[in-house]
Amino acid sequence: MVEPVRVAVLISGRGSNMVALSEYKRRDPLRTYRIELVASNVPEARGLVAARRLGLRTWAKSHEGMKRAEFDALLDAALEEHGIEIVALAGYMRLLSPGFVEKWEGRILNIHPSLLPLHKGLDTHRRALLAGDEYAGCSVHVVTADLDSGPVIAQAKVKILPRDDPESLAQRVLEEEHKLYPLALEEYCRAVREMES
Ligand code: GRF
Repeated sequence: MVEPVRVAVLISGRGSNMVALSEYKRRDPLRTYRIELVASNVPEARGLVAARRLGLRTWAKSHEGMKRAEFDALLDAALEEHGIEIVALAGYMRLLSPGFVEKWEGRILNIHPSLLPLHKGLDTHRRALLAGDEYAGCSVHVVTADLDSGPVIAQAKVKILPRDDPESLAQRVLEEEHKLYPLALEEYCRAVREMES
C-alpha cells in the first residue's frame, strides 16, 4: 500500500480549512495524505484548539520580534522533525522568506479566496464586488516567491448575487474552499507519489 504523504498545515487563525483537510477521508485506508502537524505563528490561534481536539500534533511560536528568515528556520526545523513532505497554507497570514520558499519549492500549496489571477492579496470579496465581477471563487495554487502568483492547480467558482455583501460572499466561497482544498491536495499528493515510483 502507498504511504500517505506527510502534510503540515500552516495556520494563523480560525483554521476551518485545516479542519476540512483533516476530516477529508480521515478513516479511508486509501487516503493519499495525512496531516502530521498543524503549525502556527500565532500561539493563540483558534485553529490550534480545533487541531488538538482532532488529535493532531501542533507547533506554535510567535514570530514577533524575529527576523522573517530566523522564524522560518525554526518552522523548517519543526517540519523536518516531523518528516513533512508537503506544506499546505490555510489562512497562514505571514509571508514566507525567499530561502524557505526555495527550499520547499513545488511542495507548498495555498488556498486563496479569489479566482486568481484576479484579486491577489487581502480583502478579496470586497474587491470582487467593487469590480462588478459576475463570479467570485477560490483557487489552490503552488506557492512561489511572488505573492499569490504560483501555478493554479484547482479553482471553484461562486456566482455573485445582487444582494451579496463581502460577508455573505465570503461565507459561500468558504464552503467551496472546504470542498476544493482537500480534493486539490489529494490530487497533488497522488502526483507526488506517482513521480517517485
Ligand atoms: C480562507 O478564506 C483562505 O482562503 C484564506 O484565509 C482564510 C482562512 O480561513 N487564505 P480559515 O482559517 O481556514 O478558516
